[in-house]
Amino acid sequence: MNWGAILYEAKFNHGVSIPRKGIFQMAQFTLPKNSKISKGHKFTAKEDAKDVKNFRIYRWDPDRDETPRMDEYELDTAACGPMVLDALIKIKDEVDSTLTFRRSCREGICGSCAMNIDGTNTLACLKPIDEVKGDVKITPLPHMPVVKDLVPDLNHVYAQYESIEPWLKSDTPAPEKERLQSAADADILNGDDGHGPAACILCFCCSTSCPSYWWNGDRFLGPAILLQAYRWISDSRDDAVGERLDQLEDPFRLFRCHTIMNCTKTCPKGLNPAKSIAEIKKLMVARQA
Ligand code: SF4
Ligand code: SF4
Ligand code: FES
Repeated sequence: MNWGAILYEAKFNHGVSIPRKGIFQMAQFTLPKNSKISKGHKFTAKEDAKDVKNFRIYRWDPDRDETPRMDEYELDTAACGPMVLDALIKIKDEVDSTLTFRRSCREGICGSCAMNIDGTNTLACLKPIDEVKGDVKITPLPHMPVVKDLVPDLNHVYAQYESIEPWLKSDTPAPEKERLQSAADADILNGDDGHGPAACILCFCCSTSCPSYWWNGDRFLGPAILLQAYRWISDSRDDAVGERLDQLEDPFRLFRCHTIMNCTKTCPKGLNPAKSIAEIKKLMVARQA
């Protein structure tokens, strides 16, 4: 069949082709020119390099009127620490000081170095270089506005964090010392294995791997924030459970989670945000019974 003859080429600005009525075919999209990633600069390794690995890194500078590009950096991994963050720091120190990324603790505690490495959202400081076969491709966390290079804009997700009021709400006066809870109650927060919701480092690898969050991130809170909501809901010292559940009782804020499980699969700390979301949904059902 000659699809070319029967397709009604409705070319709008972004090159969308729409078939005539009665003909079913996927719409074809062409990205606008200014949203395509172009080939960037290549930095070759020194001649005496022993173990060369190629790092392909997303670059975008808001101060230049240029499309994003992928720069390539050949690095001698024999002269570099073992983690992807070590490579980024070496590139910034020795090859290209304009490369921009966030990092702080370099041991999986602060959540700053979250990025997409080899197709997976993870922490650069916990990702061994030798786990990546071939080139190491590094891009910012997906579906977030980019501030520069590998730095995503987290303003929206932190506003969502604020919206769940992540602090203890108690009806009783503050004691002179800390508010105690039983070991069993603390286990709910920390998890028997240390992987409970209190261990979340707010890196947002999970939210940025969630298709529901990609499409509805303006109203769906996403797995990181919902896990945090559950952290307070399940805290035996908190007296605002009903109020917290009321705040989540909404077709978008909570119920846009369709249990796709990307969040749990990608969490670099081994946490289970999908389970926390399921627990909130169970509490919603239980209070209606
Ligand atoms: S389980 Fe829910 S929150 Fe997690 S990735 Fe799937 S839809 Fe997103
Ligand atoms: S649940 Fe895991 S992936 Fe999500 S923000 Fe917390 S530590 Fe990061
Ligand atoms: S630098 Fe802190 S988590 Fe990677």
